[in-house]
This record gives sequence, structure tokens and C-alpha cells, in this order.
Amino acid sequence: MNLRRRQEVVKVEKAIIGGTGVYEIGKSSQQKIKTEYGSVIVDIVKTSNGTEIAFLARHGKGHSTPPHLINYRANMKALKNLGVKYIYATGAVGSCNENFAPGDVVILKDFMDFTKTRPLTFYEGSETGVAHVAMDAPYCRNLREKFLNSAQKTGLEIKGDAVYVCTEGPRFETASEIKMYKMLGADVVGMTNVPEVVLAKELGMCYQTLGIITNWCTGIKGAVIDHDITDIVEKNKQLITETFMLALTGE
Ligand code: HPA
Repeated sequence: MNLRRRQEVVKVEKAIIGGTGVYEIGKSSQQKIKTEYGSVIVDIVKTSNGTEIAFLARHGKGHSTPPHLINYRANMKALKNLGVKYIYATGAVGSCNENFAPGDVVILKDFMDFTKTRPLTFYEGSETGVAHVAMDAPYCRNLREKFLNSAQKTGLEIKGDAVYVCTEGPRFETASEIKMYKMLGADVVGMTNVPEVVLAKELGMCYQTLGIITNWCTGIKGAVIDHDITDIVEKNKQLITETFMLALTGE
């Protein structure tokens, strides 16, 4: 693995963000990208037809950063600086919808934000200005269609569309919290899609997340989450990555 020197900086239009359990997608070189929020290292993976794809491990390699401390602004700005326009992401989620079981894969269609302490925007007044980005379609419909078509070819089963609740973490939810989210219309619960999806929108990048269901949420079917949730990601990570590649590069 070599770190590309500054004069070799490439422009890459397509990216994959790997969530819990997805820390690399193939043989790659690495690039360090500076932003006003901090530096970020991304992998640059070359496909067999020569297309370069950026890969970013959201939690860092080997899951070193917890969800509430991820530098989401640095991550998203780094991809923007690299020239990225299209992003697929994975996110480990718990399910509070009986139709979506552990091991299933869902495509996110909307979100509810229950985070508490994270920087949420690039627009903080002064030089950065004030802006209110539209959230009628937080996830990219185009990327969604491309992914569904590709999934038919790779054989990846998508269980359905899901409304995602983002909690602050790093603790799991109480049974009463899950009961409330379910009553509000949530299907799945995770800790990382906000503000990532919002920042992508603010930067004008098309963004779509696939939820990998790792567990029943607390209290659903009597669930207590006291096991490692990463194991279950292993099961479909390869097929999801292949499907992302097909959707992004046509191969
Ligand atoms: N809750 C919040 N985040 C999660 C869960 C959950 O049950 N499973 C995986 N990420």
C-alpha cells in the first residue's frame, strides 16, 4: 500500500463509504486529503477497466472512531475535494420492523435525526454563510435505481425501503426509545447516517446508503443487544461491494 505523493493527486468521481465491518474493498493505493476540518486518508481502488473508486472507512481502519466522534465534515469535504460526485455507503443498523430481519439488506429512503452533539452543517454563518438545504429527497433516486438494477444481476436480495432513525450512540437504545421510534414510523436504527447524508446534500454529491441489518433493536422480539454486531456484516459485505462496483462502473 503506497501513499501517493501530492503531485500525483488524482480526481475521482465515485466513492464508497464503508460502515461497521466494511474496512476495505480491494487492492489500493492511498491518498491523504487535506480539508479545513482535518486530513483524511482514502483508498483509491482501480477496477479492471481502469476506473478509479475512492474508498473511505467511516470509522477508520479497524473501527477506531466511535459514531459520535467521527469527523463527518472532514470525511465529506475530502471526498468533495477529490472530485467525488456519486457515493454509495453501507451502514450497520438494528431493525424495529418485523419484516426486516438480521442478515437482511435494505435501501434507505428517508431519515429522522435524533443525534444531539454533532456538527451538522458546513453553513455556520460568517464566511461560510447560512443555508437551509432541502430534505424532500435526502437519498439519491438515481443511485437507488442503479443499485437495484445491479442487485438483480449480482443476486443480492434487497428486502425493501427503510426509514432510518439516527441516534447519538455510542450506547444502544432503551426498549422505550425503540417503541417510540417505531411509533413514529422508523424501520431501522443506526448511529452514523446523520449528518453524513446531510453533508453530502450540502456539497451537492449524490448519496445513497444500504442498511445491513445486524440485530433486532432493543426489545423487539425480546431482543437484548449483548453480542458483536459486526459478524453479520461479513455475510453480505462481498456481494454488496460487488453490487456497488457494478452500479458505479458497469463491471
Ligand atoms: N441501534 C443503533 N445502532 C445500531 C444498531 C442498533 O440496534 N445496530 C447496529 N447499529
